[in-house]
Parts: sequence; C-alpha cells; structure tokens
Amino acid sequence: MMKKAVVIGSLNLDYSIALPRMPVPGETLAADSLTLNPGGKGANQAYALGKLGCKTSMIGAVGQDGAGETLIQNLQKAGVDCSGIFRRETPTGQAFITVDAAGENAIIILHGANFTLNPADIEEKRALIEEADCVVMQLEIPMETVLAAAKMAKGCGKTVILDPAPAPGPLPEELLKLCDFLKPNETELSQLTGMPTGSRAECEAAAQTLLQKGVGTVLVSLGGKGALAVTRKGSVLMPPPKVPVVDTTSAGDCFTAAFTAHWEGALEPALRYANAAAAIAVSRRGAQASIPSPDEVDTFLL
Ligand code: RIB
Repeated sequence: MMKKAVVIGSLNLDYSIALPRMPVPGETLAADSLTLNPGGKGANQAYALGKLGCKTSMIGAVGQDGAGETLIQNLQKAGVDCSGIFRRETPTGQAFITVDAAGENAIIILHGANFTLNPADIEEKRALIEEADCVVMQLEIPMETVLAAAKMAKGCGKTVILDPAPAPGPLPEELLKLCDFLKPNETELSQLTGMPTGSRAECEAAAQTLLQKGVGTVLVSLGGKGALAVTRKGSVLMPPPKVPVVDTTSAGDCFTAAFTAHWEGALEPALRYANAAAAIAVSRRGAQASIPSPDEVDTFLL
C-alpha cells in the first residue's frame, strides 16, 4: 500500500441532474432530480485515497465562497490534509452533470479557481510532494502546472500517476516520460494516441505507443469490460464484478485512487481491488458520495 499520496488537481461543486435519457440538441427535457455533490476529479481521487486508508494531502485551488468551504470540509471528513488548497478570488470550479437511467453521464465543467493553480503554487507546496510516496494528477488544472508538478515529483524520486482526463488530444512527450502510470479510459486512450481502441488488441497497440514514449505502465479502464494493464512485458485484463449501474460519475477517479492505494508492485491484486472499489461506486449516486470504505471493498471481495 502507498503510505502517503499527494493529489494535485481540481475541486468542483457538482450539479448532478438525473434524467430518463440524454437530451438531443434543441430538445427540452424534464429532469427527475438535481443534487449538489462534492466533486472534481482531483478532489474525488484525494477523497477516495483518504477514505481507503492512504495518508493523503491535496494541492488545488477553490474560491473564497461557500462551495470552496464545503469541498474542503468534505475532504477533511476523509482525513485529507487540505493545507495545500489555495483560496482564490475566482469562484470555485463547477461541474454540470447529466446522468441517464442507464447510469451513463455527460459532464460540462467550468474551471473557475482550478485554472488559477500555477507552477509557483506547486513550488510553494514542495514540502507536501517531498513527504509523499506518490503524486496523483489529472488534467482539470493548467497543463503547465501538471508538467511542473510531474518534473518536481520525478526529481524528488516519487511515483507519478496521471489520470489523463479530460484528454486534450496528444500529451506533451515531456510529460509522458515522467509518468510511471497513465490511466486513460478507452475513449481517452484513443484521444491521446489517435488510434482505435474498440478491442483488447487495439487498446494494447495504442498503449504500446505511449510506452514507447516513456510511460511506465498504461492502465486502461474499460467500464463494463474491466481494466487492462499494459507494460513492456505484456498485458493483464481484469474482468469487472457485475453490479447494477446507477451512476458512473467518479468511477474512474475511484479506480485510480484504489489502484494507487493498493499498489504494492503486482498488477493483479491492485487491479482487482480497484475494480471492486469502482464497481461499488457505480452502484451509488454522486461523486465523492459514492466512494466506498475499505470495509465495504473487503466485504465485496469476499
Ligand atoms: O470524474 C468525475 C468528475 O468530473 C466530477 O466530479 C466532475 O466534477 C468532473 O470533474
């Protein structure tokens, strides 16, 4: 188990709208419900790491508003050290999420304070990186900040885990070289490589191009088909547990955090644990609200 993690990334207030189906352009549709939840890919991963028992700090930025306060308080409930979270004049990030009856979602984000996080902020919080075993990042903060943080983390000898979501197209090769683990879903893998990812063989071929550019291991989350780990030595496909899907929001975040928390050098056990944690998350509504406790994951795995 990773002893200490630092997550560098986004915090959003999620406006989650449950709908019978996704609207089409030009259509007006009645929702079933609206819920406000703590979210943001970075905060979801920090919350999950903390809840799953990893000593966790978060570096990020929120506004000087009630949403920022709520997000910090929720992370603290999972034991996350929030001393690395800056309070800015820019409002807290927001996400507008539609979830259909099949649990699939579509997300629109308003970056807000997340995009004020800059390389100087990372330098200011260097001590949090120096104290950690691993640094976990996503792409809802500026790319130059992600790159600066990855360079600092590698320079300090830390394990770098990047969840490349939302995928902007190809990533800078300079960044790929710094990633011990890169965790795209199959759509993001296709966006990162420009290659098809419809089958295991296609995912492996696409992942290989990232390994050639210096990534250590590519972890592809495949939703209902499980997870595929691709290394220079070969690949491992871990099928998922079957669960009723209620809301897939943050399942990828939960997967990344659970894999990180349980990484001890062997792929299979960490993938199995991450699949179980993500399966529980998709069976519940919300982002951080859906993250399981270690006891729940252990019981699920029995
Ligand atoms: O990965 C899910 C998250 O994406 C949501 O919580 C939302 O805030 C967006 O960042």
